Amino acid sequence: MPAPSPTRSLDLDGTSVLIFDDSAAACLAAADQIAELVRSTVAQRGKAVLGLATGGTPVPVYKGLVEEHRAGRLSFGEVSTFNLDEYYPMSPLDPQSYRTYMHRHLFSQVDLAPNRAHVPDGTVPESALEAYGASYDRWIEAEGGLDLQLLGLGRNGHIGFNEPADLDTETALKLPTRPVSLHPTTVADAAGDFGGEALVPRRALTMGTASILSARRILVLAFGAKKAEAVAQSLTGPMTAQVPGSLLRSAGDRVTWVLDPEAASQLPGVGG
Ligand code: PGA
Repeated sequence: MPAPSPTRSLDLDGTSVLIFDDSAAACLAAADQIAELVRSTVAQRGKAVLGLATGGTPVPVYKGLVEEHRAGRLSFGEVSTFNLDEYYPMSPLDPQSYRTYMHRHLFSQVDLAPNRAHVPDGTVPESALEAYGASYDRWIEAEGGLDLQLLGLGRNGHIGFNEPADLDTETALKLPTRPVSLHPTTVADAAGDFGGEALVPRRALTMGTASILSARRILVLAFGAKKAEAVAQSLTGPMTAQVPGSLLRSAGDRVTWVLDPEAASQLPGVGG
């Protein structure tokens, strides 16, 4: 079956924005693009390096990739993956860990070598966190950088767990992988997963903006009216550390936004 086509495409200062009928169509199209990128990158340079995201948004994308794999059209045999983030502290075996999420939705279902599937380690001792973050960035670099980064967008505009911050833009564009504190909006949005806000970890490890923004392609997925304001601020507001999604504009035409009509509704010329 051919991948769904967008019902609308916009070019916002060189950034491509694709709006699909609904999130299901958008996720199928995203899975198709990722599968195609893996095939062509492996054909060209013998391997592909993917930056992966968790959360509710990309679940159907992973389902689409698993289906491609089961149909014999996609192998992860030459793929390495680096996830954006993990709660801290967090055991990889905890049902709430992002390692468990990835195992359930992708890693256990495809032919990806376990030693090439990287998720930040939520068990690293406190005193080693900064050094561990620097190592994570070095591992990505040693693989030749990310061929593709898949991203969701928080309601507060966060990418990975790079939360809104009081930083100058130049610093915000170069942040390393590091320990962070979660923003109250992020804690509130994770409450459902943890059985209440009080049970949500207040800290996390996140891939930094430097590695994210260096990816050769960046695919940002956002669905639903609750993301509309963050999408509009990211794409049309000032480029600022207060809206981490706006920092993606520094990556220009390497970025594609994949939206449903609700998430796109506050973009100029779309709503109404
Ligand atoms: P969600 O989270 O996919 O669960 O909405 C997105 C994000 O916070 O990056």
